[in-house]
Amino acid sequence: MIEIYHTSLILWIAIAFLTLLTLLKIPAPYGKFTNSRWGKLINAKFGWFIMEIISPIGLLYFALSGHTNKSTATWIFLALWTLHYLNRSVIYPLRQINPQPMPISIAIFAFIFNIFNGFFNGFYLGSIREYPNDYIFEPNFIFGCILFIIGSIINIKSDNILLRIRASRKGYHIPQGFMYRYISFPNYFGEILEWIAFAIMTWSLAGLSFAIWTIANLGPRAIKGHQWYLEKFKEDYPQDRKAIIPKIL
Ligand SMILES: NC(=O)c1ccc[n+]([C@@H]2O[C@H](COP(=O)([O-])OP(=O)(O)OC[C@H]3O[C@@H](n4cnc5c(N)ncnc54)[C@H](OP(=O)(O)O)[C@@H]3O)[C@@H](O)[C@H]2O)c1
Repeated sequence: MIEIYHTSLILWIAIAFLTLLTLLKIPAPYGKFTNSRWGKLINAKFGWFIMEIISPIGLLYFALSGHTNKSTATWIFLALWTLHYLNRSVIYPLRQINPQPMPISIAIFAFIFNIFNGFFNGFYLGSIREYPNDYIFEPNFIFGCILFIIGSIINIKSDNILLRIRASRKGYHIPQGFMYRYISFPNYFGEILEWIAFAIMTWSLAGLSFAIWTIANLGPRAIKGHQWYLEKFKEDYPQDRKAIIPKIL
């Protein structure tokens, strides 16, 4: 069983690299890139709820139905993941203002992704790895926890700036302040930090697979979104702003 799990996980990571190459050519059709050629459009708030709530359900199901003893470290991993996804699936959609409708195909893809991602990480924590009680004193655990919290703050603060723009004006405008001074997508930057941090904390291939998938989804989207800003706002757009890594990309 464990062998099948590891082979599937390697395959899952290979699919992430193929997804990255695809998304560099075709941006996922939601938000700024939404279009109806990808199937019936549904309400984005409903889409976000359905496609994201399955992630903590899947993780907790596979983790808690497994036989491993759950140490403090394991409970912290489960809690951080669940808190992140309670924000993403419930609080975030409730706060969104007039988001673009989303093709049903995007919600279905994301739903399937979240089941696999929940399985790979949940099964690892529930049936493969037992973290000792003193794991919480390991440097990678402490560093990962701090980085996860920093990533979450950057992600939520940046999303809040976009939500505030939408609350005051219709349509898309140039976001200002905080990390928008340096990059067009600090919300994605923060999210990527979070899952790199999770991989460091858990020191696992399953955690690394999620970090790679997050980069595959959000890296190309930031590059395309940055080009979109430059074309829409032309010389009004801050020319020294990068897409997702300050001063670099
Ligand atoms: N882990 C992952 O793989 C993953 C994948 C996708 C998303 N996420 C996370 O989910 C969150 C949302 O992602 P997203 O792709 O929807 O982010 P986004 O494109 O930055 O949009 C976020 C929200 O702000 C609005 N908005 C965007 N740019 C705006 C602007 N310039 N002016 C006014 N309003 C603007 C959008 O409205 P519209 O809907 O009208 O565009 C949307 O409601 C992010 O925190 C992201 O990190 C994670």
